[in-house]
Amino acid sequence: MTFRESLLVFLLAGTLQAQTAPTTPKPTSEVTAGTPTNYDEAKVGTYTLPDPLTLNDGKPVRDAKTWYTKRRPEIVEIIETQQYGRAPGRPADESFEVVDKGTPALNGKAIRKQVTIYFNKEKTGPAIDLLIYLPANATKPVPMLFSINFGAVQNAVDDPGIIPEKVWDPKTHARIVPPQPPAGHNFGHIDAEALIDAGFGVATYYYGDIDPDYQQGFSNGIRALYQKPGQTGRAPDGWGSVAAWAWGMSRVQDYFETDRSIDAKHVAIHGISRLGKTVMWAGAHDQRFAAVIASCSGEGGAALSHRNYGETIANLTDPTKFAYQFAPNYATYGGFPDKAPMDANLIISLIAPRPLLLQTGSSDDWSDPKGEFLAEVAAGPAYKLLGKEDLGTDVWPAAGHPIFHDLSYFMHDGGHGMVASDWAIYIDFLKKNLRP
Ligand code: GCU
Repeated sequence: MTFRESLLVFLLAGTLQAQTAPTTPKPTSEVTAGTPTNYDEAKVGTYTLPDPLTLNDGKPVRDAKTWYTKRRPEIVEIIETQQYGRAPGRPADESFEVVDKGTPALNGKAIRKQVTIYFNKEKTGPAIDLLIYLPANATKPVPMLFSINFGAVQNAVDDPGIIPEKVWDPKTHARIVPPQPPAGHNFGHIDAEALIDAGFGVATYYYGDIDPDYQQGFSNGIRALYQKPGQTGRAPDGWGSVAAWAWGMSRVQDYFETDRSIDAKHVAIHGISRLGKTVMWAGAHDQRFAAVIASCSGEGGAALSHRNYGETIANLTDPTKFAYQFAPNYATYGGFPDKAPMDANLIISLIAPRPLLLQTGSSDDWSDPKGEFLAEVAAGPAYKLLGKEDLGTDVWPAAGHPIFHDLSYFMHDGGHGMVASDWAIYIDFLKKNLRP
């Protein structure tokens, strides 16, 4: 089992831990899921990316109107059908139950709210348990950082008042009490006090509330609510788990729009790894989100697939790996990324003109931190077209040197996920872009 696989086993058991990649020398190639992985820059080769500013009929996009009315919808359609799968819209019977209406928390600095979001009239099936903190001294609606979480909400913030929830057990397919995560874990712990001190609200939900993170025939997640009687399997463009988790984020935004203490027009979203992929798609698809911070989203997220480095579409869509997270169509590009009509630069262009921060790790080769940078470079023209800043450079910066423009990039010195010091970078980005 590779290091990353053992990390995943750990995460899926409902425990979350600080992990940075080992500092052993980089391998130049390895075989994962039967597919050789390239880690050698000299062997990346050449590739041609799809152009965000060329319409499907080959004509150029020269103005914002053509972007919004023609090209953007074309790209949404491509990414939706070929990569993540089509999700339904807002459920007609969605409802919000505010179970904790506002309790002082975090040494009096914050007000905690807890909200359950239901998707059908009967309030059966999946529901989101949303955890929110707002600055106690706020005098007007606050901008938010909304992070989708690998773990149970009670493990996200050090606050004994959080109503505990259970997490999916991949072995029994039942929900169990999560083991206590070790101190300092970085795959779900939120530095809520630092965000509150900077004037931001914070919200999070456990992704398993919407869909368990394993292949289970789509029987116990949100998609079961939408399966037609007798339906088994998915259509080629059927939604995978990433689209389902992103759909859940949009449902949380539905709630934010009803809460007058929240500035719903200034919500930044955040997620790590597969949840980084999730926030890339949530932000690309749902234009109500004001900004996106994607941590180590890698292949299938912000890293270029046409560039042969690190994880590939073939790895992701291996049926024994993560095929369930994507539309079945995505697997057709496994081994043939050059045939894919989409890539991460198109996903990023859908986030334009809204600010995006890609946070990567210098030793996270599997996620291809340079490929994420190059995807942002290639999406720059879409930002420029809409009057926004691109990255301003095509030279990949060293670890520890952030680029803060409307397109932003930061690589920490270390491995996959977040390190504690990333919070300060996020807060700088939020201050620049959400104006608390
Ligand atoms: C695997 C997968 C990655 C994913 C990561 C994670 O390593 O190959 O694409 O980002 O899991 O979610 O931690």
